[in-house]
Amino acid sequence: MNARILLVEDEKAIQLALSGLLRRQGYEVEVAGTGEDAFGRLDAGAFDLVLTDLALGRGASGMDVLRRAKELRPETVVVMITAHGSERVAVEAMKAGADDYVPKPFDNDEIRLVVHRALERTRLQRENRLLLEQVQRQYGFENLIGTGPAMRGVFETLQKVAETDLTVLVRGESGTGKELVAQALHNRSPRRNRPFVAVNCAAISAELVESELFGHEKGAFTGADARRQGRFEAADGGTIFLDEIGDMAPETQAKVLRVLQERCFERVGGTSPIQVDVRVVAATHRNLEEGVEAGSFRKDLYYRLKVVEIDLPPLRERREDVPALAQRFLEAVTERLGRDKKRIAEAAMARLMRHDWPGNVRELQNALEQAVVLTAGPEIGESDLNLTEKPGVAGDDGADVAGLGFGDAKKRTVERFERSYLLTALRRNRGNISRTAESIGMVRQSLQQKIRELDLRSEDWNKRDS
Ligand SMILES: Nc1ncnc2c1ncn2[C@@H]1O[C@H](COP(=O)(O)OP(=O)(O)OP(=O)(O)O)[C@@H](O)[C@H]1O
Ligand SMILES: [Mg+2]
Repeated sequence: MNARILLVEDEKAIQLALSGLLRRQGYEVEVAGTGEDAFGRLDAGAFDLVLTDLALGRGASGMDVLRRAKELRPETVVVMITAHGSERVAVEAMKAGADDYVPKPFDNDEIRLVVHRALERTRLQRENRLLLEQVQRQYGFENLIGTGPAMRGVFETLQKVAETDLTVLVRGESGTGKELVAQALHNRSPRRNRPFVAVNCAAISAELVESELFGHEKGAFTGADARRQGRFEAADGGTIFLDEIGDMAPETQAKVLRVLQERCFERVGGTSPIQVDVRVVAATHRNLEEGVEAGSFRKDLYYRLKVVEIDLPPLRERREDVPALAQRFLEAVTERLGRDKKRIAEAAMARLMRHDWPGNVRELQNALEQAVVLTAGPEIGESDLNLTEKPGVAGDDGADVAGLGFGDAKKRTVERFERSYLLTALRRNRGNISRTAESIGMVRQSLQQKIRELDLRSEDWNKRDS
């Protein structure tokens, strides 16, 4: 489609010359002789580019046209035609949002070039915006599926802190969506158009992690044959996501702490401090409190990080989310593989609901992917799911106690249920016995009694990744 241009010019001769020139270039051109005329046309329809004389005789000026055009549609490109010697005004116009200007007198080539260049620039901007929207659809808030109260709390916190620069610590077992949350925080922040840089602290060796994070100067160590920019610098203006921060070496922790406190660091082998403007989001599946106690995680960093804490509950504690997640993954996978639409049979869904999901949402995603690949027909049945149940979880079918007499089988199963149920409740309440008892409608003394009977130990419920 040809670009639409609005030409605003009060001098008849220039009007004719310019509109002719632009039409010959294949553009669709409308002409306005006054600022007011231009307003009417801008109100009536969208233009890709407005080419306006700065001086328009009496009435509204080119500056007014510029303002109106940008107000109505900020993406409209505005190019000003300025009188000879009025560079100062041209600069004013650029400050007010004009994209470019051509001083009079101009020749045809100049106009052609300026218009072409300005349109090209918006085309790129538009493409970027579309890309961004795609990315947002993919990672955005909406894409974090959560239907029950467990995730509602997470969403509320997300909403409250996304727009701020507060440091956020995301915690949760593997596969619970920590990275997705970090992405959502970034996409919902004023930094969304700046970089989101993710660093997996567990994946980089201790020797390399500092150079990775802070960069290095040429000759800082053997093999450093050129200066290198670190991830903190790359994230300037945006968000850095320090994934698996619980695995970071103490020396590196000290340097990260300094960035959090002073927004400043030095490259490895460098002496001049580098200032950055980054928002820090960190994640870990580890129990940092234990790390602090054991001396492997700095207490001061711990407090700096947990300004805001987002705890992602394991999937087995929010089974209500399973159907929506399963449906989403089913659709995504069939679409990606170009398969016909499939549905999940009732029995299969019931099985998904029962599963313990030690690998959380990621495991569910993988399970559906596999099921889609393996199922030829339109319906995924229970037998198409390849789920291996860990023994000892609530809701099992008793297959592994089948050899015992009913009394023993029941006793064993009940015990197993009690153990798993109580541990889950204790974990949810961070081991606080009174709160746990209250939340499950049990008397505190009975809970304590049960804990003794089943020999539950605090390390069982503190363990986040069992
Ligand atoms: N609430 C959710 N809604 C939709 N998809 C989700 C949700 N949570 C997680 N996922 C998907 O599950 C997968 C795992 O999520 P993610 O990588 O964010 O987990 P993680 O906690 O960072 O895991 P790990 O600790 O293993 O790095 C991703 O593909 C992600 O898109
Ligand atoms: Mg992750």
